[in-house]
This record gives sequence, C-alpha cells and structure tokens, in this order.
Amino acid sequence: ARLVVLVSGAGTNLQALLDACADPAYGAQVVAVGADRPGTGGVERAERAGLPTFTLRIADHPSRDDWDAALTDAVAEHGPDLVVSAGFMKILGPRFLARFGGRTVNTHPALLPSFPGAHAVRDALAYGVKVTGCTVHFVDEGVDTGPVIAQETVQVGWHDDEDSLHERIKQVERRLLVDVVGRLARDGWTARGRRVSMKCRTC
Ligand code: GRF
Repeated sequence: ARLVVLVSGAGTNLQALLDACADPAYGAQVVAVGADRPGTGGVERAERAGLPTFTLRIADHPSRDDWDAALTDAVAEHGPDLVVSAGFMKILGPRFLARFGGRTVNTHPALLPSFPGAHAVRDALAYGVKVTGCTVHFVDEGVDTGPVIAQETVQVGWHDDEDSLHERIKQVERRLLVDVVGRLARDGWTARGRRVSMKCRTC
C-alpha cells in the first residue's frame, strides 16, 4: 500500500513508519511526506530517506478552502492508498475528506473521546486522570471525532509533567500506529468483526 504521511512536528511517528516500511513484509511504503509549516523534523526525516516532500502553509493561500484544495492536489499527486496524519496539527478540509475520507487515519495522544484537540496531554494532566493513552482513528470532519480503530493505555505517574507524560505516550503511540497502518495496508481492517478494508464504517 502507498502511504502519504502528513506531519507538523518532530516526525517520530513518521520515523517509526519509515523503519517499519524497510521490511517488505510490512506491506506498505511511504511515497511522500507533507507538512503545514516549514522546518519540521518530519520533513527532514523524509528528505534523509530520499522521499518527495511538500510544505503548504495556510498563510500562503488566499483562503482555507484554497489551502484545502492545494493539499488535496498535493496528496493526490502521489496516489496514496492510505493517508496518515502523524502529528499533523491542522483540521483536514471538506475537499480533502471528499477525496480521502475513509482512508485517512490520525494518531492522537489521549483516549478519545476524552481530551480531543491540540493539548490532549496537558488537558488530561489538568483533569487529573490516572490513566490516559493514545488512539488511532479514521479522520472525519470533526476534531478527533472519527471512528476509533485502536487504543492503548498509559498510566499517569505522580511526578509526570506534560513532557514526560507525552514522551511515554509517544512510545506507545508509535508502536500502535505502526501496527494499525500495517494491518490496514496488508489486510484491510476488521473492526467489530467486520472487514472494512480501508473504508471507515461511517464516512
Ligand atoms: C504525537 O503525540 C501526536 O499524536 C501529536 O503530536 C505528536 C507528534 O509527534 N498530535 P511526532 O511529530 O510524530 O514526533
């Protein structure tokens, strides 16, 4: 399966996918990496791996709709079977979802539906939960609302701050994302006993 990966940050989830894809048995290859801002570690990792990259800032487009169209075209150019939002900190637009909805997955550093949004780890700590974790889900038009594919838990320690907790979540998150993407790539996905084969159940 061909993967296009979207990033905004350090790209450690991307790196985990790149490492997994080195094994042909994994069944997927990253064919391009896109970012919403310049100078991301994720794009640097992609360049080191010799992959095509593109960076599209919303601020460089006349409107959010234009950005949505440009991102859709840039991703479509690489003909992905699956799009992976791996720490991509923008909401994907209606045009993008019309084209790639049902085959776009996102990783989120909390147990959805708790703590959606950009500050999930901070919000979980502030609430005082003792267990949090990560979620891989299909992307829909909401903020972290699409159908859940897989989740794993992480214990919150008494001395955790946002950085230490996020780092522990990311260790689990990378493994979970690699596992889910591999399953989608190789077999489609059996959710609640139903094979959905790169299609989400509701979009
Ligand atoms: C991940 O925890 C992701 O869920 C969150 O941002 C982090 C990205 O990490 N939205 P990286 O850029 O893959 O290292």
